[in-house]
Amino acid sequence: MLLKAGERSKKSVIPHFWANDSFWVAVFPRCFNTNPMKFTYLGHSAGYLETGSEKFLFDPFLTGNPKASVKAAQLNPTYILLSHGHGDHVGDSVAISKRTGAPIITTFELANWLEAQEARTVAMNHGGWCKFPFGRVRFTIAFHSSSMIEDGGRPLYLGEAAGVVLETEGKTIYHAGDTALFSDMRLIGEDAPIDLALLPIGEHFTMGPKDAAKAVEFLAPKRVVPIHYGTFPPLVGDPQEFARLAKGKGAEVHVLQPGEALEF
Ligand code: NI
Ligand code: MN
Repeated sequence: MLLKAGERSKKSVIPHFWANDSFWVAVFPRCFNTNPMKFTYLGHSAGYLETGSEKFLFDPFLTGNPKASVKAAQLNPTYILLSHGHGDHVGDSVAISKRTGAPIITTFELANWLEAQEARTVAMNHGGWCKFPFGRVRFTIAFHSSSMIEDGGRPLYLGEAAGVVLETEGKTIYHAGDTALFSDMRLIGEDAPIDLALLPIGEHFTMGPKDAAKAVEFLAPKRVVPIHYGTFPPLVGDPQEFARLAKGKGAEVHVLQPGEALEF
């Protein structure tokens, strides 16, 4: 049926219940923001995201982390997401992967190094998406390094550091890993609106509060949780200062204590 400009069809060809949002939500629940997700901050850069069907564990540095809110043995993730090869991020990944069978999704060299320690892994690299039963994942750039220090002090380089974008059940989560500020963060936010951004604010090894607040401007996420501060004396970045500087940039800022959770 052709309609003239401004004219509306008297009879809708779509039955009323199909035209109703709740019908489509019921048929394709994974395409809509129906079930709330729960993100629990575990301290440092570690986080646990519980969705309707999966449990994602980010950068599980728990053993030896003075701010950890749980022990590694208490977590039963279905997937582990790892941003880079530093000890304060790799943490308990191998032990948890071996105990639970959860694959560690990470960058190529790091995945191979973890695989050699008998962890289950999925090796990826920056830029491209990889599909999974729960949705998809990609690694972004991060301005940082990725290495383990071997006996004798020589660094074993494990590829490039990364940020992680996770799309699942209609929501997008960006864990920036460790990084300096970079203006291409705009592209990450433009590609898919970010529901939750996890940004380092600690200074010394990563962005501090001022640059992290600028990152909020670039990323334009709906919510942001500051991470990677206060764990050790050099990580002096103040989450309240970050909250103050990020105010008015359009994102809800949630300063979580280790063990506290955010539903969204
Ligand atoms: Ni690092
Ligand atoms: Mn770190």
